[in-house]
Amino acid sequence: MKKSKLIAGVAVIAAAVAAGMLWMNGDTSADNVASNDVLTSQPPTAADAAAVARGHYVAIASDCTACHTMPESKLPLAGGYSISTPFGGIYASNITPDSETGIGSWTERDFFRAVRHGKGKEGEHLYPAMPYNAYVKLTDQDMHDLWMYMRSVRPISNKVPETQLGFPYNIRLAMMGWNLLFFKNSGFQADANKSAEWNRGAYLVEGPEHCAACHTAKNIIGGDSSDYLQGSNLGEWHAPDITPNPHTGIGSWSEQQVVDYLKLGSNHVAVASGPMAEAVTNSTQHLTDSDLKAIAVYLKQVPPSKNTKPQPIAADTAPMKMGENVYSANCSACHNSDGKGIPNLAASLAGNPGLMADDTSSIITTVLQGGRGAVTAGNPTSGAMPSFAWKLSDEQVAAVATYLRNSWGNAAGAVSADEVAKARAQLKLPAQMATH
Ligand code: HEC
Ligand code: HEC
Ligand code: HEC
Repeated sequence: MKKSKLIAGVAVIAAAVAAGMLWMNGDTSADNVASNDVLTSQPPTAADAAAVARGHYVAIASDCTACHTMPESKLPLAGGYSISTPFGGIYASNITPDSETGIGSWTERDFFRAVRHGKGKEGEHLYPAMPYNAYVKLTDQDMHDLWMYMRSVRPISNKVPETQLGFPYNIRLAMMGWNLLFFKNSGFQADANKSAEWNRGAYLVEGPEHCAACHTAKNIIGGDSSDYLQGSNLGEWHAPDITPNPHTGIGSWSEQQVVDYLKLGSNHVAVASGPMAEAVTNSTQHLTDSDLKAIAVYLKQVPPSKNTKPQPIAADTAPMKMGENVYSANCSACHNSDGKGIPNLAASLAGNPGLMADDTSSIITTVLQGGRGAVTAGNPTSGAMPSFAWKLSDEQVAAVATYLRNSWGNAAGAVSADEVAKARAQLKLPAQMATH
């Protein structure tokens, strides 16, 4: 065979494979189980009460509220909240059954396609800020129940502004390429070698709860890296490693301690704050004890990250000495001189794996801006931490962060004043107040 012919042949095959992949990737036939007749605007009947109740649980486990309800608004699921992404703000839609401004005119099948395959009503590609790459794992039953619940919520008229991203992200068709690279078009695959409990945990974490959306690092165009649940930067926050790594992950936590964190918002060391406080308050605290246990069983068995514990920075170095002074004057009243804090109120800084990550954004944000632990039915008071932006210089914040990362058995890299200065600017916090 002539070389040119061979090359042409290879090109034809490559094109056919690419077309096949595109087709499979965009294949929504799994959604054809859903009816294409009844509209979301049609309220469910009394006979549907059990399905609506199950669907409510699916909606909570999937935390649809997190993005589709504007914070502080009294308009549940009516959208309008702009999700910030590195490419610009993306408005979450009104998903109440209002026919004009919500999804009232959608059929069940339209709904399945949007949630599991990221396709809008007219077939347009949704942005992956809507976590369909996780929801594709939702079972037909959970999807049906969820839709029944959506039909039961109050229709709210609220026109959401159109998302305007810069080129090329404004081209929705470009999501086809994104999907080809990062969207795995397949439902949840149970592992027959694992227990039913493990499989339930895997389903919840990978599917409805979409934990990887925050805890798995992203590449430059927002796709998941292969470092599953090994920690990710969210701007002002760091979502820590939640693999069973003993140093930076949950390896030293018992299953019950993982459950406590997700149910109460705090455990023997850590207190959930920032985006995790919202996830706990809106979603995980409402899960049944057996579902929380299943999540813990699964997390304890995912492949651990490879992070290792370094040598701690010596206590007699200049930043550590400065850090110790700052700590005893400002922090020890709540966190104690032994770093152990006050159980379920002020986090323990000793042996707290989330504080050992290379990424120190959560520590810096918490010290500069202060914070508040998750409020839950099991721990309704929670604790608050004051802001120190006005009181401490960048150098002092860096020193105290370095100190808490290298005391009481902790060991992690030093924090620089530059990192603190950047965070202070990003958080729009004022400089330290003049001391004279
Ligand atoms: C992490 C944020 C986030 C979560 C959680 C989330 N969504 Fe979305 N959703 C979005 C965003 C952003 C859009 C708009 C995407 C776009 O414009 O391309 C959207 C779009 C949609 C749409 C398409 C609406 C339309 O008019 O085109 C539906 C339906 C939807 N979401 C349903 C849900 C349901 C049901 C849940 C819970 C199971 C959920 N979403 C959870 C962010 C989220
Ligand atoms: C919206 C983003 C987001 C989602 C979704 C999310 N997390 Fe988190 N998670 C975070 C952040 C940020 C922190 C750090 C909180 C802090 O520093 O107080 C965190 C902390 C944690 C911790 C504590 C780790 C430690 O070392 O302190 C655990 C455990 C955890 N998350 C588990 C989960 C699980 C399981 C899910 C899914 C059910 C989940 N998270 C979903 C953002 C998220
Ligand atoms: C008035 C009591 C109080 C003081 C003083 C205080 N903290 Fe906190 N701190 C808390 C509480 C309560 C939490 C848990 C809520 C939160 O994370 O915002 C917390 C959380 C933290 C966390 C996050 C732990 C985690 O699990 O995510 C860090 C880091 C921290 N404090 C460091 C400091 C440092 C450094 C100082 C001194 C500059 C300090 N704190 C002073 C009460 C306090």
